[in-house]
Amino acid sequence: MLIVANWKMHGEPARIKRWMDAVSAAFTGVENAPECILCPPALWLESANAHLGDNPTLKLGGQDCRAEAEGPFTGDISARMLAKAGAKYVIVGHSERRIGHHETSAEVAGKCRAVKHAGMTPIVCVGETLAERESGRAIDVVREQLNHSIAGGDSWCIVAYEPVWAIGTGHTPSLEEIAAMHREITSYATGLQQSRDRAIPVVYGGSVNPSNAASILAIPEVQGALIGSASLEHESYIAIAQAAGRTMQGK
Ligand code: PGA
Repeated sequence: MLIVANWKMHGEPARIKRWMDAVSAAFTGVENAPECILCPPALWLESANAHLGDNPTLKLGGQDCRAEAEGPFTGDISARMLAKAGAKYVIVGHSERRIGHHETSAEVAGKCRAVKHAGMTPIVCVGETLAERESGRAIDVVREQLNHSIAGGDSWCIVAYEPVWAIGTGHTPSLEEIAAMHREITSYATGLQQSRDRAIPVVYGGSVNPSNAASILAIPEVQGALIGSASLEHESYIAIAQAAGRTMQGK
């Protein structure tokens, strides 16, 4: 199980270090601990990595990258730079990038390739808007995003199913809807692989909190969670990750 904390544009080094200390203390030496991944703002990755040292409890990730390795792209950051700063994962295709920055699935595919080329694992976000769900097109939209975001060659990645209307709203799909979409994504994304002997892990994101985490994570096809607001305080992140640890025993 992967429990990913997406800090978005929040935090500063002292707060990040306090969070890391609390999470490490909660999971060091614990059997059935989930894989805890912190994605702080890129600017603080290096200091977080120095603080982490060789502590295996936590891993670091970036929140986005540019597909090119280097060049005249003011304000952008490459996958290789994130890797050098200590990232092992990079979130790509988050709806705040797809919608807010007009990123296409073709661009997301380029980012995915760059992340893998730099030796990291992409966490590829897909998800429908409310209008797309209400018009019965959710599965088609998500398939289309997967098709263009991860297809081709070695497309190993983690997929995050994040319905746009669930992000930061306090609303989530029903457990049945999450299960159905995760089944669909797991088989579709795995089918896009050259070698299909390993199922693509699919994590859920969108208003996960300590009250709903246990039931969402208990869904057999849910392999973890991508958490925004509830990841910022270590108490709620730890509560969610502990719920993941308990469900891992039953899965
Ligand atoms: P949220 O954000 O948990 O605040 O809904 C999730 C995300 O954007 O990844």
